[in-house]
Amino acid sequence: MQIGVIGIGYVGLSNAVILSLNHNVVAVDISAEKVQAVNDKKSPIVDCDIQEYLEKKPLHLVATDKIADACASAEYVLIATPTNYDEKTNFFDTSSVEKVIKEIRNINKDCVIVIKSTVPVGFTKEIIEKTNDEKIIFSPEFLREGKALYDNLYPSRIIVGVDKDNAEMVKKAQIFANTMAESAKAENIPVLVMNTTEAEAVKLFANTYLALRVSYFNELDTYAEIHGLNAREIIEGVGLDSRIGNHYNNPSFGYGGYCLPKDTKQLLANYKNVPENLIRAIVESNRTRKDFIAQRILQKAGFPKNSAAVVGVFRLTMKSNSDNFRQSSIQGVMERLKNHGVKVVIYEPTLKAEQFNGYQVINDFEKFSSVSTVIVANRVEKELLPVLDKVYTRDLYQRD
Ligand SMILES: NC(=O)c1ccc[n+]([C@@H]2O[C@H](COP(=O)([O-])OP(=O)(O)OC[C@H]3O[C@@H](n4cnc5c(N)ncnc54)[C@H](O)[C@@H]3O)[C@@H](O)[C@H]2O)c1
Repeated sequence: MQIGVIGIGYVGLSNAVILSLNHNVVAVDISAEKVQAVNDKKSPIVDCDIQEYLEKKPLHLVATDKIADACASAEYVLIATPTNYDEKTNFFDTSSVEKVIKEIRNINKDCVIVIKSTVPVGFTKEIIEKTNDEKIIFSPEFLREGKALYDNLYPSRIIVGVDKDNAEMVKKAQIFANTMAESAKAENIPVLVMNTTEAEAVKLFANTYLALRVSYFNELDTYAEIHGLNAREIIEGVGLDSRIGNHYNNPSFGYGGYCLPKDTKQLLANYKNVPENLIRAIVESNRTRKDFIAQRILQKAGFPKNSAAVVGVFRLTMKSNSDNFRQSSIQGVMERLKNHGVKVVIYEPTLKAEQFNGYQVINDFEKFSSVSTVIVANRVEKELLPVLDKVYTRDLYQRD
């Protein structure tokens, strides 16, 4: 098949790579650097599997900045452009998805458009009705950043949302699901075909559950820290119940990354006129956690008594082995520290500039650690071992 993919980010690139094992894929982005990188077989994102597949596998993949090249003869076109949360409207900004749908239709009236971007619950149905265009389906993406291709090679499930009353489109949705499954390495992957609105809800409820779990163990950890208790022992004891499990339970400075903060807020917005307590609490819990972490850091730094205290932030990323710090929780903590008037400096080797959002970047680790009164690390890495007495972290398991 001819397949177009719009957006060469985590979602678009991993889907383009896997589909291009068996099909001709043209991937489009407005970023000339990303297009060039893919054509040079260099992954524009840190993902060892994507890099390996680009270099070593016989992929039928071309990148371009011309959307017509991707759509003109395509049977399926995937949209994987951003849907950032708009704090003014309290909803996702879906303008890039809507714009791309129009552009695709100006070129190709027949292809099936597959929305992979995360959208508000009800978005696809609305756009089908508004544009009278029945050939749009929604397929939620469940990848983790840094493991984007791996998670498509071994997907937990493939879900396709389609108007189930439209038999022809259900067939096309099934073909898309089978195409994804055939390219994967895992076998017997659960495939669910449902209406578009349910499929959109699956995505937001799944991410909100993950945020809930992070918040739960963070609040457990806050309790333990305030009462001087051993959080690790409590978490282990709690998790031995197989219904709870000893996984995805490592305390942190809050949930973060591109998706969890915005997807929880979007789900809360979708709850308008629906009774709830929990969804709002998950969003608020993350703020409370960052407030608490900032307070603990100030205490450890002896601020404000020690007005010359410097807080050194070790990495802006959420996880080790990542180059991505979109919406990382440490940035929320830094903002709170700045509002208290304490000096903050950053150690982040993936940054080349000397400043980041007005904070000084010190990538010479010796210098960074010697100027810092306290070093804060969401995740501990081995460089920190010689200066552990200065480190403030809640990382118990060096994972997640
Ligand atoms: N990153 C994740 O872990 C993840 C997981 C599941 C779902 N999602 C969802 O998928 C969507 C994309 O996320 P991402 O992380 O891949 O984003 P990204 O920022 O990594 O990539 C998006 C790409 O789209 C490009 N783009 C923007 N407008 C364009 C246009 N008009 N034409 C062509 N290219 C355009 C950007 O230049 C960028 O390269 C979002 O809705 C996100 O919520 C992301």
